[in-house]
Amino acid sequence: MCGIVGYIGNKSAVDILIDGLKQLEYRGYDSSGVALMNTDNIDIYKAEGKLQNLADKLFMNRDKVVNSTLGIGHIRWATHGAPTVINAHPHTCNCGGVAVVHNGIIENYKELRAKLEAEGCVFRSQTDTETVAHLIAKKYSQCKNLTEAVRLASLEIEGAYAICVMHKDLPNELVVTKRNAPLIVGVGEDEFIVASDVPAFIKYTKKAVYLKDNQIATITRENLNIIDLNNNSIFFTTEVLPWEPASLSKMGYKHFMLKEIHEQPAVIRNILSGKLRSVDEDIYLDELKLDKDSIKNLSRIQIIACGTSLHAAMIGKYIIESLCEIPVDVEASSEYIYRKNVTDKNTLVIGVSQSGETADTLTAIKQAKSKSCHIVIITNRPDSAMAREADSLLAINAGIEVSVAATKSYMAQLLSFYLLALKIAETKGSADKSLLKSLKEDLILIPQKLEQILSNKDQIQQCAREYANTKDFIFIARGVNYPTALEGALKLKEISYINATGYCAGELKHGPIAMLDESMPVLAILMKGLVYDKILSNSEESKARNARMIALTNSNDVKLDLLFDFVIRVPDVQEYLSPLIAIVPLQLLAYYIAEFLGKDVDQPRNLAKSVTVE
Ligand code: M6R
Repeated sequence: MCGIVGYIGNKSAVDILIDGLKQLEYRGYDSSGVALMNTDNIDIYKAEGKLQNLADKLFMNRDKVVNSTLGIGHIRWATHGAPTVINAHPHTCNCGGVAVVHNGIIENYKELRAKLEAEGCVFRSQTDTETVAHLIAKKYSQCKNLTEAVRLASLEIEGAYAICVMHKDLPNELVVTKRNAPLIVGVGEDEFIVASDVPAFIKYTKKAVYLKDNQIATITRENLNIIDLNNNSIFFTTEVLPWEPASLSKMGYKHFMLKEIHEQPAVIRNILSGKLRSVDEDIYLDELKLDKDSIKNLSRIQIIACGTSLHAAMIGKYIIESLCEIPVDVEASSEYIYRKNVTDKNTLVIGVSQSGETADTLTAIKQAKSKSCHIVIITNRPDSAMAREADSLLAINAGIEVSVAATKSYMAQLLSFYLLALKIAETKGSADKSLLKSLKEDLILIPQKLEQILSNKDQIQQCAREYANTKDFIFIARGVNYPTALEGALKLKEISYINATGYCAGELKHGPIAMLDESMPVLAILMKGLVYDKILSNSEESKARNARMIALTNSNDVKLDLLFDFVIRVPDVQEYLSPLIAIVPLQLLAYYIAEFLGKDVDQPRNLAKSVTVE
């Protein structure tokens, strides 16, 4: 996590740094800081909390900071040490000559720190990053060359990092390097902006150089030079990015999350327009680079993901197994990487990630790739590190998602799984043709059904008001919607901090039912189909323990109004597609509860949108 920006050019650095950090707030937001080159010094400004606190501090010191044309900036998601001013980046060596910002984790920082302390360095923070500042300063004192100092330090550092370094004696030099963390150099006219992600500089330039791992770039106002760890010069190409500066406007919505929930019908229409051209034609998915025989020979699919993407993957499993007759395993990436995995050349591995940066998923994918499995990546960021590992890249095209709580990207991931399952089933002939046709017909209708839910959100607002003051919340479902219960609970807990848990309803009586009493809300996802009656029975069991019962249903059965204290009704849909419908009221419920409680909906505490540490 964390976001870094560096600027060298002829403009005032401070505004570009703050502007860039603003675009990187999704990577962390517990503290921030900048280092600015002054005539003979580096000035450091830091603040706890949101970026605005730093911006305010800089505004108060505008006269002192405005003339600097070289600087580095950082927005933090704390890994080592609390989010205090002392621990905020940039970090410096003892004489203040070197300033460093860092994204990632220095795994051997304890050993390095002990060694540097023994050599006389005095540490002020609890961070791993400060080690890098002292180490580079030591090397610089020996070789008097910042690039060489960074190269020598890189040889000793273990872990993942993107770092950006400046030295007070070098008013026309910025040195940056990376290993397993993103860093891109934006190339302008007599200026360069380096950043963890493109939105930080796209307003200023569309030209960019993607640094590769273990490359070190030396940047002056006039030039960019890249070497590798062995001091070899690297030939690089400058790409012109197909990006437009994203308007990060809330478009009149109070929060990005609410805006992004409302964008879901358009996201689905956009995806379907290219892939589902006619219900009588096969799904158009030429991004899947597997020929017919390879698809027919698939013996197994493994899907790896984290968080919300993991829940999309679980629904993907259900649909693929139902339509394609291929066994599918779904696993949290963080578990996948620490056990022996049995794969062969007929195993397809699918990584799912909104950001394409999640460290655990990236590591898991690299492991699977080393075993020669075909890798499919489903991501919202086709320019990400994970996308670069793909044999088949399924870009979900949900558009930039700002709110930390994933909503429209989840919807787009689900769509990708439906399309993939349909494509495999069509190729294999593993499902009834009339079923496949009816799924395509009904997929086309999903956006308008979501619009009905969105225009009828008063019922959900009312539910939110009635249940906002609860400490705990249980979501139950079965079958294809069990992951919907998990996702509904995750949405609620991450933005409202209510202790919400999703259960497959059949498991309730094996323990969790002990928690039920008149204070516990139980929301049952009751979509018509195979398990409807079963969930109804499980709901009766909960009602018998006096739980406060809420139904989310596409049934018009009036008996539900007797059993449940609150009934949220959604448009009818066939069971296989019901997760696309059922999740939206749960996203809204989480949103309205958090908003009612006055929480920071788009930037909930302790979280970041890109989790780039294991
Ligand atoms: O970018 P990814 O999809 O790989 O991120 C995975 C999780 O960190 C993410 O889904 C997280 O759970 C979200 N905050 C959920 O809203």
